[in-house]
Amino acid sequence: MTEPIGDLIDVKDLSRRQKYRLQTSLIVPRPIAWISTRSADGVPNLAPFSYFNGVASDLMLIAVSIGSRQGRPKDTLVNIRDTGAFCLNMVTERHLQAMSLSSGEYTPDVDEFEVTGLTMAQASKVDAPYVAEAPAVLECTTFKEVSLGTSESTLVIGEIHVVRLCPEARELWDRDFLDVREWVPVGRLWGGLYSLVTDTPQLERPKMETPS
Ligand SMILES: Cc1cc2nc3c(=O)[nH]c(=O)nc-3n(C[C@H](O)[C@H](O)[C@H](O)COP(=O)(O)O)c2cc1C
Repeated sequence: MTEPIGDLIDVKDLSRRQKYRLQTSLIVPRPIAWISTRSADGVPNLAPFSYFNGVASDLMLIAVSIGSRQGRPKDTLVNIRDTGAFCLNMVTERHLQAMSLSSGEYTPDVDEFEVTGLTMAQASKVDAPYVAEAPAVLECTTFKEVSLGTSESTLVIGEIHVVRLCPEARELWDRDFLDVREWVPVGRLWGGLYSLVTDTPQLERPKMETPS
């Protein structure tokens, strides 16, 4: 073992903004949950979230952390609380601009499908709209909402009930992996920086000898 090296940053000494910026710079790239919901009044809503990942797959569960705005929950969280439903729309290179446009801090009466010019369609199993142009859509209901202590963010764990694949995607799926590389999936780095998944090295995992 060597002596400890490097500078230590005690997160207690960082402002909220510095913590956000440091964490989002270090944990990269993050997948993007492009979440579509509908308000109790019927207004469609669409926004991206990158504090997101899959967290279980026997039960197909995802988790997304939704922050607040001026101390109030964002529209996506309000709608998820009201309807218990949402769709995750896959973001590809083709929809990068629209995804970014949908992240504007619009008031709850604004329909981001109209803002972006994307086509809205109704999910088959859950009470939420989805992006018709997305190659794949996951229809979810709320599995659990987790409050994160003194944080102003809330973790929503969602259960996937239906995976909708566009015809092109359906052709790619042979009931095993779905090779989405040709759509160029997108990850978020920090601020307005994104990564396009174009370089995909393949590695074999080590095989363990079984003891005789
Ligand atoms: C790529 C990207 C990722 C984002 N990730 C998050 C996130 O994980 N959590 C969050 O609260 N806001 C995130 N935002 C900001 C929200 O998209 C933004 O606050 C949006 O206006 C929320 O919309 P709503 O009020 O309709 O829910 C992200 C924005 C972008 C562009």
